[in-house]
Amino acid sequence: MPNTPNTPGAEWPIVRVNDLAVSFDNGRGPRVQAVDGVRMSIYPRQTLAVVGESGCGKSVTAMSMLQLIPRPPGRFDRGEIVFESERGPVDLLTLGPREIREVRGNEIAMIFQEPMTSLNPVYTIGDQIMEAILLHQKVGQGQAREIALKAMRDVGIPEPEKRIAAYPHQFSGGMRQRVMIAMALACQPRLLLADEPSTALDVTIQAQILELITELKESRGMAVMLITHDLGVVAENSDVVCVMYAGRVVEYAKVYDLYDNPMHPYTRGLLASIPKMHARNDRLVTIREIVDDDAQFRKLPEAGLGVRPWWPWHDPPADLAPRPGPAGDYYLQEVAPDHWVGVWRTGAVGDHESRAPDLAYRIPPKAEPAGV
Ligand SMILES: Nc1ncnc2c1ncn2[C@@H]1O[C@H](COP(=O)(O)OP(=O)(O)OP(=O)(O)O)[C@@H](O)[C@H]1O
Ligand SMILES: [Mg+2]
Repeated sequence: MPNTPNTPGAEWPIVRVNDLAVSFDNGRGPRVQAVDGVRMSIYPRQTLAVVGESGCGKSVTAMSMLQLIPRPPGRFDRGEIVFESERGPVDLLTLGPREIREVRGNEIAMIFQEPMTSLNPVYTIGDQIMEAILLHQKVGQGQAREIALKAMRDVGIPEPEKRIAAYPHQFSGGMRQRVMIAMALACQPRLLLADEPSTALDVTIQAQILELITELKESRGMAVMLITHDLGVVAENSDVVCVMYAGRVVEYAKVYDLYDNPMHPYTRGLLASIPKMHARNDRLVTIREIVDDDAQFRKLPEAGLGVRPWWPWHDPPADLAPRPGPAGDYYLQEVAPDHWVGVWRTGAVGDHESRAPDLAYRIPPKAEPAGV
């Protein structure tokens, strides 16, 4: 079951999500399919950005990796998440309670969307960072304190010697977020799941935190999954982008390919709805307007590919009626080299599966300015 390289001789991903499906019992009627057939992989020193609107399944995907989905009401319906742990490849979905606890906060760390709910109000900040360190690293109290102080300094918490004794309620939202990041990074994870790591932070701090994550990624060979709504953050901080909609991956590409040539109507809408600095439009175009424009749906067939992007608001055209295969009527097609789009499975394309989305690509690190 190990993660084999995509091309022979190439490196291996740290984690590969393969056909993940997660649903929830909502107490009435059919289960809510929160995630449906998600595929992605993340390589060492790579940041994979996961973008998409609220409720599309970004957090559920990340939390599945650590088995943090409450079950019930949640359920893993299909798939595997193969992680290259220190002990070799493991499927994170099938690890027992003790094994997954060893992975959590140690080999895989997560920065949560809501920092207040993940800090314990009755313990000091220092106790909580140190506990995380002591749990997984073979160090004494004194050394753990030093690591904690350094981590606090790294994430820009002023006067760490004083603040290490403070309680969470004495910190602002932005500071609590930084504490969470300090905790996550102090444990030297191989994979960092950063769920909206910067929404509670002001712009300067946000840039600093993302820079810090990038630095650590380079120096430690860490892999990063960066969940965000902010396409500016994506453009500046990621190597590969995975766009999700309604629990599915709808587009997967290198960051510049995605911005230069978005192919799925949803991605086009997402990019077109960013306000432009010098545009003279009176109002922003909504995503719905863009995807309702039928011309958008003709673009892929025009390219001679004979496929139409999957879109839940439109039925597929009669001439390209879906032909459900074993995996349903939806799949990811590599429509250009290293560029995947979610499409309807049709008679024309149903017989061949293109390779699963998987890119080891990384933007080369910025060269150091010479001789300063
Ligand atoms: N514990 C739960 N019980 C029931 N449904 C849930 C639970 N957690 C998530 N869901 C459902 O799963 C779907 C995906 O949720 P998820 O939190 O992954 O969205 P998201 O992409 O992270 O959104 P946001 O950008 O708002 O954080 C939603 O429809 C949500 O209602
Ligand atoms: Mg979320």
